Amino acid sequence: MPFPKTRMRRLRSSERIRDLVSEVSLSEKDFIYPIFVKEGISKKEPIARMPGQFRYPVDGLEEVIKRCEDAGIPGVLLFGIPKDKDAAGSEAYKREGVVQGAIKKIKELSDIAVFSDVCLCQYTDHGHCGVLDRDIVDNDRTLDLLKKTAVSHARSGADYVAPSAMMDGQVAAIREALDKEGFGDIGIMSYSAKFASAFYSPFREAAGSAPQFGDRKSYQMDYRSPTQALREIELDINAGADIVLVKPALPCLDIIRRAKEKYNVPLAAYQVSGEYALLRSGILDKEALHESLTAIKRAGADIIISYAALELGELL
Ligand code: PBG
Repeated sequence: MPFPKTRMRRLRSSERIRDLVSEVSLSEKDFIYPIFVKEGISKKEPIARMPGQFRYPVDGLEEVIKRCEDAGIPGVLLFGIPKDKDAAGSEAYKREGVVQGAIKKIKELSDIAVFSDVCLCQYTDHGHCGVLDRDIVDNDRTLDLLKKTAVSHARSGADYVAPSAMMDGQVAAIREALDKEGFGDIGIMSYSAKFASAFYSPFREAAGSAPQFGDRKSYQMDYRSPTQALREIELDINAGADIVLVKPALPCLDIIRRAKEKYNVPLAAYQVSGEYALLRSGILDKEALHESLTAIKRAGADIIISYAALELGELL
């Protein structure tokens, strides 16, 4: 029915009406909060390009876990920053490594769900996500190390491991290793569609994980290729991923929507460091953060990983 019988503004006439007709709302229960844990520091360190974010020592995690609980956030995602790095990223799968210690500590403090990032880039001296064969990342040799890393996280008490290295076959390899070691109940949240993105740069600075030569384009995806993203997601579902993830989030709303429509697995989206840094740059006010997070959920994300998770109380 055309105007003047139809007046769309009647659906926007007051806050009450707008609330009633709205279709998407954020809940703190949708969120996972990323936490950086650093070896060899005694106090938390602020992260320069990510206002309000810190690197924590294992012994200083209590404060941030308490904040997650107060905020009602169901899960955290851990990233380790080791003191020593080497070509094989050995600190990633050490029994007493920094993330392994952090997982144990958090499990003593809380029943919050612990997700742990499984990748080598913070742990290798060359900064790539796997081991090198000359200047190429060796996919298959890296799989063995990712398996060891995932099993060590499970042994420390992680609920979910989150492989982010973008090696082919990583989900199948990790599922098999977990099952073989008796960790059949530990889940996999796979970074299935992870694009080589300039939006990761504040994270790389925060974690000291920038590649020392070249870039990650031979393993992370090309953002001009959306169909490949869907193929990656499908492969990971078939390999046993329990939750699939798209990353970054706002630049990938189309992928989130298409994945949501196509597959019946829980879908996570990662609002990455560069998205957060831009939204917190002081140019825009907090409403822009709310708008972005709502757009990510509206596109179809069931779970949002966001550095803003602890500020939601102020946004909602
Ligand atoms: C590790 C990893 C990265 C991020 C999450 N896991 C960095 C990268 O791939 O270079 C980025 C997260 C962010 O930017 O917030 N591979």
